[in-house]
Amino acid sequence: MHYAKITGWGKCVPPAVLSNEDLATFMDTSDEWITSRTGIRERRICHCNFSDMAVVSARHALAAADLDPAELDLILLGSLTNDSYCPNTASLVADEIGAVNAAAIDVNSACTGFLYGLHIGTNLIRTGAHKKVLVIGGEFISHYMNWARRDVAVLFGDACGAVVIEQSDEECGLLAAKIGCEADAKYAIQITNLGSAYSRLSEEFLYVGWNFEGQEVFKRAVKAMSQACMDVLEQTGLTVDDVSLVVPHQANKRILDALAKRVGIPEEKVFVNVHKYGNTSAGTIPVALAESLEEGRVKPGDYLLTASFGAGLTWGAGLIKWGERVTPLQLSDASLPACDKTALEILAPHIKRYAEHSASADSQ
Ligand SMILES: CC(C)(COP(=O)(O)OP(=O)(O)OC[C@H]1O[C@@H](n2cnc3c(N)ncnc32)[C@H](O)[C@@H]1OP(=O)(O)O)[C@@H](O)C(=O)NCCC(=O)NCCS
Repeated sequence: MHYAKITGWGKCVPPAVLSNEDLATFMDTSDEWITSRTGIRERRICHCNFSDMAVVSARHALAAADLDPAELDLILLGSLTNDSYCPNTASLVADEIGAVNAAAIDVNSACTGFLYGLHIGTNLIRTGAHKKVLVIGGEFISHYMNWARRDVAVLFGDACGAVVIEQSDEECGLLAAKIGCEADAKYAIQITNLGSAYSRLSEEFLYVGWNFEGQEVFKRAVKAMSQACMDVLEQTGLTVDDVSLVVPHQANKRILDALAKRVGIPEEKVFVNVHKYGNTSAGTIPVALAESLEEGRVKPGDYLLTASFGAGLTWGAGLIKWGERVTPLQLSDASLPACDKTALEILAPHIKRYAEHSASADSQ
């Protein structure tokens, strides 16, 4: 049996910053409410396409691994906000980076898209079916946001990250994972008016709506992620004391605190960047992983615990053993095209559209 070593990592966060104060200029909210309920202070807004963020993070990950994209044999891309349904976004990325020998699959399990992808890619490598896999996770969630919904709009942001995993005989990479889905609660997070279940003849079609049961999701997230963490520790015979760093899905600081408490991990061992980016769904874990390495929080041979939760309601956890190398082999200068707008300027037409739609719905 082989292992699937993580040899490269990269991230792409768009430059336009949307602060809590910016949100309070067009919706009835406040920095105090958002910070005290979620820990989020600001988030990023994408000014280009989702695939642009995916390509930039892929180029950083490939440079860190010093890998020729033609050597990749598979791309797994976790996202629910793809550029288009057809062709899939993994194909767009493959073409753009020159991954001419790679199969290309989109994985839509919402926030768990990266962890699901890492689990699938790792096991395809471990069985020998594939050798070099690019796993991407990210989201252009601002594109799918209903900007009249203060209970949802303040929580999310745009970003993307990626890792390269390669076949290795060294015992490292994702050593254990447990993934699952609480499908009975599938409508606790739901994006409506988009997809073939909705009539194209309806006037509502493409006015994205959200069903969002925040408190229900909160409770289930803490329970499912902590149970999954304990399961992967049990699978590997490790204890929480062996874990150097937890790199979890970043949805809400209060969820992270509750998770740490339940699993019995001190707060200082939990990597947190939700204050900077909000919930970037499938982007949170690969971005947090890249930043953990940039900040020197990962040491050779460390055991990292990761956990995620999202729409579906999908959940999962994984135990990663890091290899010897914690620095990139090469650096890439890949970046997004320049952005000449503020986040509020990018969003202005969408905020107006949803405000008008919400006002007309209220008057009916
Ligand atoms: C959404 C969430 C932050 C709400 O926090 P909460 O502590 O449950 O919120 P509360 O129930 O105390 O507050 C709700 C009140 O705040 C109001 N409110 C909602 N959003 C608000 C906002 N952005 N600004 C100000 N007030 C807001 C509501 O209208 C409600 O008011 P009411 O009591 O007068 O009806 C929290 O439930 C959560 O984080 N859930 C998990 C969501 C998540 O991350 N999902 C993705 C998982 S991948």
